Amino acid sequence: MTPVPTPAGDMAGFQLALVDWARHGPALAAVRHAVFVIEQGVPEQLEWDGLDPECRHAAAFAADGQVIGTGRLLPDGRIGRMAVLAAWRRRGVGAALLRLLLAEALGRGDRHIHLHAQVDAVAFYERSGFVASGADFLDAGIVHRSMSFHGDASTAVTSTRQS
Ligand SMILES: CC(C)(COP(=O)(O)OP(=O)(O)OC[C@H]1O[C@@H](n2cnc3c(N)ncnc32)[C@H](O)[C@@H]1OP(=O)(O)O)[C@@H](O)C(=O)NCCC(=O)NCCS
Repeated sequence: MTPVPTPAGDMAGFQLALVDWARHGPALAAVRHAVFVIEQGVPEQLEWDGLDPECRHAAAFAADGQVIGTGRLLPDGRIGRMAVLAAWRRRGVGAALLRLLLAEALGRGDRHIHLHAQVDAVAFYERSGFVASGADFLDAGIVHRSMSFHGDASTAVTSTRQS
């Protein structure tokens, strides 16, 4: 597969794009299955919540076309399902995906960009301009916190378009 439609950038050996669930869903789902279901033990029925067809999806591709990371933006401005394959972490893939989703949300005029962060990932989101609020809560058996975006447009990448 050579799925690099309208890449938003070529950074450190990977490329980014906003992609259609209809076309790239199986590849995105494979990453989420490896990360959330296998690695973190999230039940399948919670992972596949039926919302993916109405979301915008970001994908990171390795040079060979493999999807190595993903995230999604819901119609209400909520970002979620941020996942990078373990072998690719701490190389900027997650931050780049988040910037792409932020750019999409800001570009379409979302006013309240928010997410539910696993507590272990709060610092990751803080680096991109998100601020945590409220008490911890459990989702899929994992402790989470609500976070909302308080940064500005410069936090996000530009030139994003759907395949
Ligand atoms: C969270 C996740 C998406 C981050 O992806 P990544 O590609 O490793 O992140 P990056 O390399 O872009 O990291 C960006 C910055 O955040 C920091 N960071 C990354 N993961 C972090 C974590 N878990 N805790 C604290 N800081 C973190 C990095 O050190 C980096 O800082 P730097 O720019 O100063 O080096 C990835 O670790 C992952 O898939 N985790 C498992 C699934 C998960 O927990 N998803 C989040 C659900 S809310």
